[in-house]
Amino acid sequence: MFIGNVEVKGLARLAPMAGISNAAYRTVARECGSALTTSEEIDATGLTRMNAKTRYDIAKYLPEEKPIALQILGAEAEYLVPGAQWLQDQGADIIDLNMGCPVQKITKTGRGSAMMKDVAKTAKILEAMRKVLTVPFTIKIRSGWDEKHLNAVEVSKMAEDVGVDAITVHPRTRSQQFTGLSKWEMISQVVDAVNIPITGNGDVKSMSDARRMSAETGVESAMIGRAAMGAPWVFDESFEDLSPEGKYDYQTRVINRHMPLIMEHFPEKVGLIQMQRHLSWYAGGRDRVRSFRVELFGARSYEETRDVFDRYWASVDPAVSQQPNMAAV
Ligand SMILES: Cc1cc2nc3c(=O)[nH]c(=O)nc-3n(C[C@H](O)[C@H](O)[C@H](O)COP(=O)(O)O)c2cc1C
Repeated sequence: MFIGNVEVKGLARLAPMAGISNAAYRTVARECGSALTTSEEIDATGLTRMNAKTRYDIAKYLPEEKPIALQILGAEAEYLVPGAQWLQDQGADIIDLNMGCPVQKITKTGRGSAMMKDVAKTAKILEAMRKVLTVPFTIKIRSGWDEKHLNAVEVSKMAEDVGVDAITVHPRTRSQQFTGLSKWEMISQVVDAVNIPITGNGDVKSMSDARRMSAETGVESAMIGRAAMGAPWVFDESFEDLSPEGKYDYQTRVINRHMPLIMEHFPEKVGLIQMQRHLSWYAGGRDRVRSFRVELFGARSYEETRDVFDRYWASVDPAVSQQPNMAAV
């Protein structure tokens, strides 16, 4: 599939997740087979107000990730236009606008999924962004604000009309947050209504789910979010066929790649949280994980964290496979 001039090589890709899909994690997901990655949401107001160093940290990506989509979040053209332009100048291959975040502190200021409420106002914002962007411009939407306002098709047609290059549809409403199952029929309705590429998202837990979504809805691309937490190998078709010991070795290699990336690219205070969070997910579904996690989150440095993990990892039975995460959020 192409998004503008950017080729998306592969069916499944990592969904943007705040506090999770940063440069280090995106890189390992990409190396496991994620067809493209998108940064977590980057607030437009912050971008335009911050100093150069802070901005750089937020929008950081690694050369190995390219092509990369950077996602912006905002409510007004006044911030979104210069913010998107700045991200483009940093080398983003695609600019994605977040129109799906359901969190109240975001929607109450008109950001995220609140942008689906006033379609005419949002059209003007998208037009203004389109005018300054030379790279492909995409949006990520939900099915609507609530069950009474299911307007993903209307929003998608409007976006196509103003020159948006592709759309990701997560067919839950804002009021559903992450509960219930996403209704893939809504993805099919959007696919049928527009002529730009659509990426489907919602409850895809494996490559076979991604293929099923593609067959049922007609999308050529699927995003995986929660099932990729602690499991970047979800993007590797060959992973499922490995023996339990083969999976353990694969996981060990990924962990040994991921942890140094965190140590290299974050200040220790932030990196330590990232390290512990991801290691705790990597251990999901294995023996004695509860007591391991208590010890892990008690560690106070990179070295101590790694030591706690290494001792634990060496002690688990490789023959006991991991289950997909779908962690509660
Ligand atoms: C912890 C968390 C953080 C998220 N942050 C973002 C975000 O920054 N931008 C965005 O567009 N969606 C965000 N999402 C939504 C996901 O991209 C995705 O749409 C959603 O999780 C549904 O996909 P899944 O069923 O595969 O998890 C987030 C989801 C989770 C669970």
